[in-house]
Amino acid sequence: MFEDITTDVSLLLAVVLFLITWIYMNIRRPTGMPPGPTTYPIIGNVSIFLGKTPPQKIFRGMTKKYGPIISFKVGPSWAVVINNYELTQEALLTKPNDFSGRPNLYMVDWFSDNQKNIVFAQPTPTWKFHRKLAHTAIRKYATGQYLENLIDEITPRLQAVMTQKAGTPFDPREVVTLAVYNAIASMCFGHKYEFNDTELIRFIELQKEINEAFGNGTLADFIPLARFLPSPQVNRFKKTSIEFFDLIKKEVSQHLERYSPDEPANDLIELLLQAQGEESEGSEDHACKLTDVHIKQIVADLFFAGTDTSSTTLLWAIACIVDNPTVQENIKTELDEVIGHRPLRLSDRGKLPYTEAAIMEVMRFGTVVPLGVTHRALKDSSIGSYKIPENTWVLINQWALHMDPEYWDAPEVFLPERFLDSSNSVKQRLPSFLPFSTGRRVCVGESLAKAEIFLIFTWLIQNYKFSKPPGEEGPAAVSGIPQALNFTKPFQVVATLRNDIN
Ligand code: HEM
Repeated sequence: MFEDITTDVSLLLAVVLFLITWIYMNIRRPTGMPPGPTTYPIIGNVSIFLGKTPPQKIFRGMTKKYGPIISFKVGPSWAVVINNYELTQEALLTKPNDFSGRPNLYMVDWFSDNQKNIVFAQPTPTWKFHRKLAHTAIRKYATGQYLENLIDEITPRLQAVMTQKAGTPFDPREVVTLAVYNAIASMCFGHKYEFNDTELIRFIELQKEINEAFGNGTLADFIPLARFLPSPQVNRFKKTSIEFFDLIKKEVSQHLERYSPDEPANDLIELLLQAQGEESEGSEDHACKLTDVHIKQIVADLFFAGTDTSSTTLLWAIACIVDNPTVQENIKTELDEVIGHRPLRLSDRGKLPYTEAAIMEVMRFGTVVPLGVTHRALKDSSIGSYKIPENTWVLINQWALHMDPEYWDAPEVFLPERFLDSSNSVKQRLPSFLPFSTGRRVCVGESLAKAEIFLIFTWLIQNYKFSKPPGEEGPAAVSGIPQALNFTKPFQVVATLRNDIN
């Protein structure tokens, strides 16, 4: 009997010892990694992403204790977040070979058919080829005169909706979103939608739901075992994504029916189909670089990455000018003096320094992608004096860079003048200003986004005066619920037709 008890106790001790060792190994920070908060077994520090305070603010708060680079754990994976400009430059510009990977996340991998798009793909030659195709599509179908004509076609629709709203408070999200979705749909699918088109409205709703799911993450993203548990959240995400991809697939099939490889391509889908034809004439290896799945994923990628980012920037712009009426009047005066009543062209950009500075300030103040898109260390490396083991996730706290008092006086104040030099020219390449990130994975749509935002924003100001509804006191330019994108809190404005007030 004594022997039985001794065996039981030994077994218990062994289990306890095993558990203690496992917990210790699980939460122990690898030697040389940046400091950070205490991590917990299994979940790590996942709670940072699940609360009401935006994670970018939590991380910046932590810099007081831990310095500009902080390590933490997301489920089983170690991650670091960089909160200043110098270390961001080191990771993304000086060491692109070390830090241009993407992490593997359950929902992201599911959504991208195992990383067959651009945003979530690893930096392989296939990804490089897809980026090149995306650049070509943007250059051909969404820049210069093509984009100007496109916006000229959209503005009457915008005007019709705005006329209905004129004089009464409304949420500007709907109009801005419809305008931007139309521009990107035109680049991707080669056709425009009426603003009340049910398919366009469904696209917007689906992306909103997908964004919410991505933003909050799911347990299955952070804890691998959780993916085997039933989850209504994951089921809803998958159902929504399937409907989103069905709409994209429908567009691709319609193109396949009418597309002729001998005619010049007219939109992104035709360009991809043409490139697929050319690739399949090469070796079998080449054909694998642009399969039907890749085409579906690249179209979805540009549609997804290009719409809510730009429309949210425009919403921040409207919110910032209603909070700062003098800035709005300064922009209008500059437009009146330099342009008059004619529609704006992209070549006008260099002539409107205050307007350009105001748009840059919106991008700093609103920081639409506050934590960037997560990178991954492709090998053992270092940032600053710290070791960064292979596979560590690397987050860039763009919001912290844009609010860094070392680079920005009174960063919480909206001040377009900070982007102007003493001769009233726009300061180029300001440090600690990276709304589109930098380095190998820099945003593919930067030029398109800037051009489109410029044309739509200036059209709005040329034609309407935006103000707060009577009795509305608080600021409009405030962040909403924390998500992957920094959406504004819903707000109302009154838009008065400029002809009415002149
Ligand atoms: C104001 C609007 C936009 C902002 C603020 C923005 C910002 C960003 C940021 C921060 C990244 C992550 C870069 C990195 O990983 O370091 C990114 C990636 C990307 N963006 Fe944008 N973006 C905008 C508009 C667009 C548009 C209009 C398109 C295309 C139509 C686009 C396509 C992409 C793609 C494809 C990537 C992935 C690049 C890669 O992983 O190689 N974006 N963007």
